[in-house]
Amino acid sequence: MSKKILEPSTRLFPIPAALVSCVGSDGVPNIITIAWTGVVCSEPPMISVSIRPKARHSYPIVKSSNEFVLNIPSASQVRTVDWCGTVSGSRVRKFDEAGLTPAVASVVRAPLIAECPVNIECEVRHRLALGTHDCFIGEVVAVHADDAVLDADGRISVGAVEPLAFCDGDYWSIGSRVGVYGFSRGKLTD
Ligand SMILES: Cc1cc2nc3c(=O)[nH]c(=O)nc-3n(C[C@H](O)[C@H](O)[C@H](O)COP(=O)(O)O)c2cc1C
Repeated sequence: MSKKILEPSTRLFPIPAALVSCVGSDGVPNIITIAWTGVVCSEPPMISVSIRPKARHSYPIVKSSNEFVLNIPSASQVRTVDWCGTVSGSRVRKFDEAGLTPAVASVVRAPLIAECPVNIECEVRHRLALGTHDCFIGEVVAVHADDAVLDADGRISVGAVEPLAFCDGDYWSIGSRVGVYGFSRGKLTD
């Protein structure tokens, strides 16, 4: 087996490309596309999003409001995801321009993006200044899922969501399920 050593860089993939919504004290909601995101704790449930302090209208909003909503888009929404990640809320009202609907959240002030099948409300518990990005660690305080993506057991159906994966600069849709947690040790059902 032959391998090349590449320069140190963030070559981890797949990762989600999500839409983070937030609202400032002026009441104007904004959206930022975020790929630097992940699950960081099960109990309490916690999710991180990393935002550049510079040139991100969303940064001071999340920092001062201490909350955000992580909205999971479907692969069919890839154009919106890319667009929200290439224009700034300092110049455009992204909800209006993208034809997205801000929906009232259940705990936080930041709105949900109604068109996204899954919305995760978070309250910021920690902020880590890491370098180019600050990592906001948010505790999940509510999760919303469209009826259309819930299966008979109330689980979110990945197949129905058709999530978007960001892989080293490219957007991908994901394929089919190839296993279930524990199946290698004989677990037979979901
Ligand atoms: C696929 C994709 C992923 C991105 N991921 C991040 C990220 O994790 N953190 C970040 O600060 N910016 C990220 N960006 C860039 C911001 O989304 C972009 O600068 C956006 O215009 C900022 O909007 P705002 O100024 O309204 O906050 C990403 C952009 C794209 C297209």
